[in-house]
Amino acid sequence: MNTCPLNEKLLKSFVQNHSSFFNNIIYYKNIDSTNIESFRIANKYEGNFIIISDYQSAGKGQFNRKWFSPECENLYFSLVIKDKIHFKNSLLVITTASTVIKTLSQYNINAFIKWPNDIIVKKKKICGILIEEKYNKNIRDLIVIGIGININTNFKKIKELKRIAISVAQLLKRNISREEFFIKFLQNFENELKRIQICQEEIFNFYLKYLYKLNKKIKFKTGTKLIKGILSGVDKNGSIILKNREGEHYFTTGEIILN
Ligand code: BTN
Repeated sequence: MNTCPLNEKLLKSFVQNHSSFFNNIIYYKNIDSTNIESFRIANKYEGNFIIISDYQSAGKGQFNRKWFSPECENLYFSLVIKDKIHFKNSLLVITTASTVIKTLSQYNINAFIKWPNDIIVKKKKICGILIEEKYNKNIRDLIVIGIGININTNFKKIKELKRIAISVAQLLKRNISREEFFIKFLQNFENELKRIQICQEEIFNFYLKYLYKLNKKIKFKTGTKLIKGILSGVDKNGSIILKNREGEHYFTTGEIILN
């Protein structure tokens, strides 16, 4: 069952008593964007923490797009990481996307990763991830992993989004507890973080296994260019590899065009 507002007490007690990585979770009834707020208040709290909101008035997506964030329907949160993290951004992208795949599979949902970190089901987006960083004198001192997961919105009723977005509730035909999903996500994320040091190869292979259109023909848009080719893999820096008659091409930004 979905409750509104989120059960702040439950989330706080879970994070404070069971998380080994985050000290706290800060709840907002509404906020412009949990990512923007993360940068505003990063120094107000000790260590790593999480910001979660029931509503975002200016949810941020990739490529300056807006993230649809209706009140109390879905999950909108940011993981605020201040610890010295030595691994690369690409590994965080891979770990976060894989965590969402694992969490969805606990609900028997088979999702795919559309490079680099869109999570899709039936060619529609179920989760978006926006990782932002802050550097101080060339040293990364803040990482914000913003995650939006479509939990209970019925996108079939939203004309502009019904072809491109889907939710957990639509797939399961019942409303889902956002607290339960969030807690499962967090447990999985922390397990992955623990594994990162010792089994990077395994984490990378899991990501590749769920990569949408691997070894298939795709259309890829980068800047103003549209390129066609076979998606032949992702390298250890997280770049997508496209093969076509002109050879092998590596891209760090851009997006796969669906259909
Ligand atoms: C995308 O475009 O795919 C990324 C979407 C990321 C949305 C989440 S919702 C929580 C966090 N706060 C934001 O403003 N954006 C991210």
